[in-house]
Amino acid sequence: MSQKSVIYLKDYTVPAFLVETVDLRFELDATATCVESVLRMRRNPQASPDESLCLFGHDSLELLSLSIDGVDLPSSAWLRQDEVLRLTVQLNETFELRCVTKINPEANTALEGLYLSDGMFCTQCEAEGFRRITFYPDRPDVMAVFTTTLIANKNEYPILLSNGNPVAQGSDETNHWVTWQDPFPKPAYLFALVAGDLSCAEDTFITQSGRAVKLQIYAEAKDLDKLGHAMESLKQSMRWDERVYGREYDLDIYMIVAVDFFNMGAMENKGLNIFNTSCVLAHPRTTTDAAFQRVESVVAHEYFHNWSGNRVTCRDWFQLSLKEGFTVFRDQCFSADMHSAAVRRVEDVTLLRTAQFAEDAGPMSHPVRPESFIEISNFYTLTVYEKGAEIVRMLHTLLGESLFRKGTDLYFDRHDGQAVTTDDFVACMEAVSQRDLTQFKRWYSQAGTPRLDVIDDYDADQGTYSLRFIQSTPPTPGQTEKYPLHIPLNLALFDSNGEVIPLSNGQSSQLLELTNEETTFVVEGLHEQPIPSLLRGFSAPVKLFYPYTEEQLSFLLTYEMDGFSRWDAGQQLAVRLLQARILKGGKVEEELPKTIVAAWKVLLENASDDPAMASLLLTLPTEAYLSEISSVIDVDAIFHARRTVRRQLAQALETQWLTLYNEMGSEERYRPDSSEMARRSLKNTCLSYLMALDSPTYLALAEQQFAESDNMTEQFAALSAVVYSVFTDSAREMLDEFLNQWQHESLVMNQWLALQAADPKAGALSRVKALLEHPVYDSRNPNKLRAVISTFCNQNTVNFHGLDGEGYRFLADKIIELDKQNPQVASRLLTPLTRWKRYDDQRQALMKAQLQRIIESGDLSGDVYEVLSKSMA
Ligand code: TRP
Ligand code: ZN
Repeated sequence: MSQKSVIYLKDYTVPAFLVETVDLRFELDATATCVESVLRMRRNPQASPDESLCLFGHDSLELLSLSIDGVDLPSSAWLRQDEVLRLTVQLNETFELRCVTKINPEANTALEGLYLSDGMFCTQCEAEGFRRITFYPDRPDVMAVFTTTLIANKNEYPILLSNGNPVAQGSDETNHWVTWQDPFPKPAYLFALVAGDLSCAEDTFITQSGRAVKLQIYAEAKDLDKLGHAMESLKQSMRWDERVYGREYDLDIYMIVAVDFFNMGAMENKGLNIFNTSCVLAHPRTTTDAAFQRVESVVAHEYFHNWSGNRVTCRDWFQLSLKEGFTVFRDQCFSADMHSAAVRRVEDVTLLRTAQFAEDAGPMSHPVRPESFIEISNFYTLTVYEKGAEIVRMLHTLLGESLFRKGTDLYFDRHDGQAVTTDDFVACMEAVSQRDLTQFKRWYSQAGTPRLDVIDDYDADQGTYSLRFIQSTPPTPGQTEKYPLHIPLNLALFDSNGEVIPLSNGQSSQLLELTNEETTFVVEGLHEQPIPSLLRGFSAPVKLFYPYTEEQLSFLLTYEMDGFSRWDAGQQLAVRLLQARILKGGKVEEELPKTIVAAWKVLLENASDDPAMASLLLTLPTEAYLSEISSVIDVDAIFHARRTVRRQLAQALETQWLTLYNEMGSEERYRPDSSEMARRSLKNTCLSYLMALDSPTYLALAEQQFAESDNMTEQFAALSAVVYSVFTDSAREMLDEFLNQWQHESLVMNQWLALQAADPKAGALSRVKALLEHPVYDSRNPNKLRAVISTFCNQNTVNFHGLDGEGYRFLADKIIELDKQNPQVASRLLTPLTRWKRYDDQRQALMKAQLQRIIESGDLSGDVYEVLSKSMA
């Protein structure tokens, strides 16, 4: 078993040595790259003077030489153990450390450090990848000015990139070299280099102070036509950050590089972002609207990191949410401004309430600022990102727009060039608002999803209405005792005509701040019992429990103006119905309640007013959400209940679906703008309902859409509708045709793979195993692994959770295999098995047996070991 030890926040100490400058020299070679690093170092006056110098270096590093102030050190001058190299010689106050290492990028399948992606060199250093490149004090609070020289064969690697500005270059017969300098001190995790045969799209951005910034997006030549959307998104992001946060870009050049082999979405390396191709390439013919939006928000996210992450960075990795939570909040607000704010809020809340709540209820539950970890890569989680963003949003809600902006101005000003903590961030919000946010900070330290029970009472004689709020948080692993949180709750009351009742502040809504275990809020002078809308805008990441009647939910669906709350009322209405049927096994065929049919009918009739929102309103809660809110997850019942209700809604309102489908059609050429995306989304929602009717008429409609559409959104929606239908022969034909058409487009093939991996029809596991043998599959590429394995295990619930246990065995086999190749990806894939406690006894036993089998399979990475051990505890 792995020897990795637990690292604790409480053990933090300042670095013993600081690095002023780093000079790196890479002689790039696929199997033997030589890295020379020269560090100007000095003892940290704030550290104890007798601490020795410790550098981090991965096992895979071959140390060729180490010298201090020009004197070579003998191997007796250091101790190398695990990931640490400790110098045992006496050191001066300041000195120059030179280190030469040899690494093998081609053998690097973990995709951390320096590796090859489709023959081009690239790096991924966050969180601790730099230690796979050279020995270095690789921790985020050690910030240095980097100068990097890249030397490589000029034919094979004509483009040589690193952080900052190019300052010198040259070449000889075979090789060329470029030197890059980044004037901004940064931690090693923000270092990057790229070398390869790349093409680029170029543009210019003039900042608000009038400086010209060169923008370049690099990709393989074949993808040059797919860079326009990312470029537009980048310029929009730059403008937005100037307007909304007053933040300007600081270097003369901003580069993005698209690589096909990448563990995550993208990386904010200073001046040289590296992106998963899936988050940067976009073209109407090959990219769906959803993917267009993802590109826009990831480009924005990485750009915003230039201030929230790079200029002001994290003191240690426990503070990860300082940059991630804040930056997610920033990219959410950006997308909200670019499109529909209500739609974006619904999407963000959906992700939080399904996936983050599930994480919070599972064995990996941890606070937004964790207290300990074995492998930091395991903490790039929905909790740190999405719940972290909710914390920043709550600060924004509590302080209001203008004070919040004062707070961020102070934060960027006070901490520019520093590595700081979430406490420092909140301290700025306290300073500008004169508020005491001590209790609020529990959101960072307390794990688990709070529950908020609401009990109301109306006294008709007195005309008083009282709301009692009771908050509690269930225990989470390692944290049994929970304390009350500071919960901002946005409230509105409606009268029976659907009008909002002005509250004591004279406004139509009021922000309550719930800080005690129990709070009662009283409204006086009412003439009738009001209908409360609680948690408008999802003002806090809690589970709200209030015994709404179906009539009240229908009422809110009709009258609530807050987009999120209106949508949520509709969802809760559907949840009621689905839950009742799930309890009966899901296959019941009783008639739909009139309230639901009536509500959906009104939604359909008014859908064209706001097609994007309508599409969300008309979509039933997902299996994932229904699972999350179940006490014991009954996968089959959930699947069948949802499927049956869908078909019944399709039947009950068939003409309306068809009318709306036709209404949402268009003869115009594709445009990726908000209104067109909304139209296509609603059109495709209609198609998928119609296809639930198993009618050849609608099969023909889907086939026509497949054949005639000029864009991937419509083509793929038609394909999906047919693949998930009863028309298996047509599905096979269409899949083959699609393969034929797009086999050379790697990202399209990911979609093709994922669609089949998610197909719930019987026999899915053998189809999935066949996909793993298909020529378009590549077991080294994380995007392909995710498309097939992750999709099958997370989305194809009925098959993955099949009672023969073969789905579980399949995943365990894959993890054992993959852990040797890519621990970060292996560890993430493990998630569905770790949730075993949520299922029935029979499945629990089967799942645990597979977890046990992984444990016993032999030498595991720290990544997988940490998740396994926590899941079995
Ligand atoms: N900082 C990146 C982001 O959120 C996250 C990231 C990219 C990452 N690649 C990674 C984290 C690899 C861990 C490992 O934008
Ligand atoms: Zn990020």
